[in-house]
Amino acid sequence: MKKLVSVLLLLLSTTAVAAVDVLMLQAQSRFKPIPDGPPALTDNPITAAKVELGKMLYFEPRLSASWLISCNTCHNVGLGGVDIVETSIGHGWQKGPRNAPTVFNAVFNIAQFWDGRAADLKAQAKGPVQAGVEMNNTPDRVVKTLNSIPRYVELFKAAFPAEKQPVTFDNMARAIEVFEATLVTPAARFDNYLRGDKRALSTRERRGLRLYIAKGCANCHSGTNMGGTAYYPFGVVKKPGAELLPPNDKGRFAVTRSASDEYVFRAPPLRNIVLTPPYFHTGRVWDVKQAVSIMGSSQLGINLTAEEAETIVAFLKTLTGEQPQVEYPVLPASTATTPLPITEVIGLVTKGH
Ligand code: HEC
Ligand code: HEC
Repeated sequence: MKKLVSVLLLLLSTTAVAAVDVLMLQAQSRFKPIPDGPPALTDNPITAAKVELGKMLYFEPRLSASWLISCNTCHNVGLGGVDIVETSIGHGWQKGPRNAPTVFNAVFNIAQFWDGRAADLKAQAKGPVQAGVEMNNTPDRVVKTLNSIPRYVELFKAAFPAEKQPVTFDNMARAIEVFEATLVTPAARFDNYLRGDKRALSTRERRGLRLYIAKGCANCHSGTNMGGTAYYPFGVVKKPGAELLPPNDKGRFAVTRSASDEYVFRAPPLRNIVLTPPYFHTGRVWDVKQAVSIMGSSQLGINLTAEEAETIVAFLKTLTGEQPQVEYPVLPASTATTPLPITEVIGLVTKGH
């Protein structure tokens, strides 16, 4: 009898181990842990001098026409790399059309923006500085501003030592790209799991992972960044209403002009997702569980039960990694030749509460 029990126990434990291992193997074949440091960048070697300059530029409000808005305004490094509002507020208090995605781990995305219109972070960084609704500046004015501040001229020389005229708009973007590449969030509990520690996730969280794979979320949100690697229609099965999918934003269609890309968006990365509400390109959904349920009906044509959605959310919470510890840089003073700020309020709200 005793022997039978121990054989049974042995059998039970080996099946349990086997089941968990299958899940882990499935996970390991679809997802990759976030590395501890920045990956190598194409044509832009990472150096300490570039990181230092890039960090200052990232926090530099004088890259904006108003001297009020920096990259950090909308991609706050203390708030998961986002601004936690529906759609971003930029120059002159104008409200932009889309929700700000996080800069954390953005280096792992195949391309930048909801529609992938920028190939990489260096191409991306030139956009917001010039966008009328964001920082509303011009490359010439940025270069003039940087050249008027001797400390910046020194820092550009140190970051790009081989160049005669290192203070350029392109080099600004290169330095920012390098700094952004350092904004990775390693060591999430899910990464420890992927590295073989099955106890890094609770039973419930593993059940959430199993659902995430079985229901089909992993078909679109996978890889290192749990997304950010491919484009899909928002509404593969069922098109969401105009609130979530306003007719005037056709997504990737604006980039490719191909009819099949209408209302197509990049499947967003889900790393640190619980830190970065509100959700979707419109930022209209504040509750991550509701976002998951909408995905079920819009992308997969299924009605997830409340319990299933909650269990998937329990798994999503394990994707929160160590947040970068960024020391706020001291920025050099302007001089008499620095172009002065342009202050104006465009989107003036006339009705208060
Ligand atoms: C006024 C707010 C605002 C400012 C300022 C701003 N951004 Fe953004 N950023 C956004 C919004 C909104 C998007 C998404 C736009 C889209 O997809 O069309 C975005 C997208 C991005 C992305 C793409 C991330 C991804 O996953 O696709 C990166 C990277 C980024 N910004 C970096 C920067 C940098 C660097 C600066 C400073 C030079 C900056 N941003 C300034 C609001 C802002
Ligand atoms: C066919 C591809 C596809 C499938 C399957 C899919 N998604 Fe998505 N997911 C997307 C796209 C595309 C978006 C962006 C929608 C938009 O335009 O706002 C998105 C957005 C999201 C968001 C909002 C992210 C953010 O930063 O705002 C979450 C959360 C999410 N998906 C989770 C899931 C979960 C959980 C599942 C499984 C139940 C799932 N997705 C299934 C493609 C997919």
